[in-house]
Amino acid sequence: SNGNKRYSYEMLVETAHFLLSRTPVRPMIGVICGSGMGSYWNEGSLAENIVDAHCIPYEEIPNFPISTVEGHHGKLVFGHLNDVPVVAMQGRFHYYEGYPLWKCCLPIRVMKLLGVKTLIATNAAGGLNPNYKIGDLMIVKDHINMMGFAGNNPLHGPNDERFGPRFPPMNKAYNYEYRKIAKEVAKELNIQDIVREGVYTCLGGPNFETVAEINMLKLVGVDAVGMSTVHEVITARHCDMNVFGLSLITNECVTSYEHEGEANHEEVLDVGRMRQDILRNYLSKLVVRFAQI
Ligand code: 6GU
Repeated sequence: SNGNKRYSYEMLVETAHFLLSRTPVRPMIGVICGSGMGSYWNEGSLAENIVDAHCIPYEEIPNFPISTVEGHHGKLVFGHLNDVPVVAMQGRFHYYEGYPLWKCCLPIRVMKLLGVKTLIATNAAGGLNPNYKIGDLMIVKDHINMMGFAGNNPLHGPNDERFGPRFPPMNKAYNYEYRKIAKEVAKELNIQDIVREGVYTCLGGPNFETVAEINMLKLVGVDAVGMSTVHEVITARHCDMNVFGLSLITNECVTSYEHEGEANHEEVLDVGRMRQDILRNYLSKLVVRFAQI
């Protein structure tokens, strides 16, 4: 069936070669800009932060799917951030758009072939931990692969040993050193009061959760819920990339039937804009520190 289809190694190499022919930048770190965090890499921010930016729209990249969600611009940005060579994804591929997970994760394997050693995956998420407030940043300590429990995994199907082993470990998914550095840098920037650390889970979406679903996730130890990242991190760890995850808490998840409000995408984008400067500053510093180790 279609579910068993894969990008062949040759297709991924073709994509990587195309990108290497379009930019002299040889990225060491890959950054995925999540919902509302795309603004971090908008034209103004890029001019200030990424030196000699080469933007390549997804439409021009062989084998790339095209991202469809509002708030995502759909391009790769190659350049230098504080002298560190990076590639940023402005817009990612979500399962709810209709792509199978292995398709959502194409850019991760392409990054690997480009020579990227470190993946920084950011996202917008709903906060379940009662201590979290809107606008907080959560360093991802670990994840729960809910979709994987149901048999949906980006590594499902034949394994390509050129990327990694059939049965990859996942107990050190989110690099300990990076998390330590992220907490140090939060103190240096005096944002430690809004920086948390917790467990993330991804659901397929596109709907936000019911009250019963949120209460279930709380019971199993989830601090924040979103619609991305987990499968990308699994793909990155499979091919031995180091991973840092950061969630922007854009809303408090509703845990009561009496509650009036409802989660919505506008709120997600608004909180992204509210935190744009802090995120830009924080991520720029983290990139430098991650590149040093
Ligand atoms: Cl409340 N749920 C999910 N699944 N994703 C989100 C969210 C909530 N808030 C932002 N992204």
